[in-house]
Amino acid sequence: MILETERLILRPWQDADRAPFAAIVGDPHVMRFYPNTRDRAAADQWIDKMIAGLDAGTSAFLAAEHKSDGQLVGMIGTARIDMELRGNPREEIGWVLGSRYWGRGYAPEGARAHIDRAWRRGLPELVAFTSVLNTPSQRVMEKIGMSRDQEGDFLHPRVAEDHPLRPHVLYRIANPARS
Ligand SMILES: CC(C)(COP(=O)(O)OP(=O)(O)OC[C@H]1O[C@@H](n2cnc3c(N)ncnc32)[C@H](O)[C@@H]1OP(=O)(O)O)[C@@H](O)C(=O)NCCC(=O)NCCS
Repeated sequence: MILETERLILRPWQDADRAPFAAIVGDPHVMRFYPNTRDRAAADQWIDKMIAGLDAGTSAFLAAEHKSDGQLVGMIGTARIDMELRGNPREEIGWVLGSRYWGRGYAPEGARAHIDRAWRRGLPELVAFTSVLNTPSQRVMEKIGMSRDQEGDFLHPRVAEDHPLRPHVLYRIANPARS
């Protein structure tokens, strides 16, 4: 599955993505709103999981490649949700980009292509969630037309109880054809 935007190709993962993806998720600045950075083995596992999800049709976290030079910008995609959230949403949308690409609107650009695809698939809504502290990611959610569900705040079950990243916010966007 391939999606194309003005500046990005969103496509399945290739072996050549493994080293640049490991550099992105091994960068403490990129991962400052995650409990840990990932070493090469963990980054490979993450890619393997995304490939398996694509094969199974349970997720579409795609590699975002810069059209002009073929460099890996990061990861942008959608996936089925495997935990309880308010309203039982089916799928989430998310993103992680290398820091040298931040601030140029790539995450919203790639996310919009995934939203269009979600509506074409007939999905009733998409949600996104992140740590309360992750304001850059919340800005992306706002830019792509998502609204914060104030009643959807939650403590992430896979983040340690006393960890400052545990409180999360929930954003939603509804399929305009279904509302
Ligand atoms: C969140 C993220 C994907 C945003 O991608 P992006 O392509 O830079 O998005 P935008 O260009 O639209 O910028 C969104 C916001 O990021 C912040 N931002 C932009 N450049 C930044 C930089 N160099 N340093 C820190 N924050 C920056 C700003 O708050 C910006 O909002 P604004 O445009 O209103 O000023 C990116 O910052 C990232 O990969 N962060 C680390 C991984 C992560 O936290 N992912 C989300 C997990 S839920």
